[in-house]
Amino acid sequence: MTMTGLQGKVVIVTGGARGIGAATAARMARDGAKVVITDLLDDEGTKTAIQIGGDFLHHDVTSEDDWQRVVDTTVERYGRLDGLVNNAGIATGAPGTPIENETLDSFERSLKVNLSGVFLGLRTVVGPMKATGGGSIVNVASVTGLSGFPGVSGYGASKWGVRGLTKIAATEFGPHRIRVNAVNPGATLTPMNEGHVQLGEGNFPPAPLGRIAVPEEIAEAVSFLISDAASYTTGVDITVDGGWTARPNG
Ligand code: NAI
Repeated sequence: MTMTGLQGKVVIVTGGARGIGAATAARMARDGAKVVITDLLDDEGTKTAIQIGGDFLHHDVTSEDDWQRVVDTTVERYGRLDGLVNNAGIATGAPGTPIENETLDSFERSLKVNLSGVFLGLRTVVGPMKATGGGSIVNVASVTGLSGFPGVSGYGASKWGVRGLTKIAATEFGPHRIRVNAVNPGATLTPMNEGHVQLGEGNFPPAPLGRIAVPEEIAEAVSFLISDAASYTTGVDITVDGGWTARPNG
């Protein structure tokens, strides 16, 4: 299916070298968006960019200077910036570590990449988007930001923060015709969680749909929110979790 309203849009996807970011970049490029992939992983990022016909820029989302360079380079190259997918994220600490055993370093690293990285992205793109009359931003949060999921204190707190920041930015940026939304993926088969989950009914509590997601299924929701098809949608999050949080004890 073709997604309307992506043709010609200039969109930055952070953490786009692999996983959900790469699938999202490919999805949007297929419908005519000009996609700039950014990541710490130069080789994988360059390979993915070549595959989809996009650009790659090295980027650490925790660095203010990197954000400025990435946005300036994109605007210099294309004359505008229409979209940002704040997708880069890390899961720190061994999964299932209770708060009692979690280190401050691990907790704070999650916040720095997953939450401060999103804040820096929002702050850096708002000027250029205002200048060209609007834009659309999607923050990739998580189902761990919807309930008290045990054993992921840093990661879960960062994703609750991302959902909150999404709503704050939506109210601040709305008057400038910049939409800000979030997507909450459920368990998805990507390099981040290889070894912890599997595609069928594995060691992860099963979703009603009986399996975990593939990255392309998350990419559909992100691409919709970036596109003009979502022109009146802002300040919300779309959960794509196979019904996992709809379970009676979800
Ligand atoms: P992944 O590990 O396959 O991809 C994440 C990408 O972000 C990697 O290419 C990595 O190099 C990049 N990255 C990490 N730190 C960075 C930094 N400081 N600056 C720039 N890039 C950085 O993981 P996946 O699964 O594709 O995750 C994408 C997003 O989806 C993350 O925000 C994650 O928290 C979220 N998510 C993933 C779920 C899953 O089950 N895979 C479930 C819910 C949310």
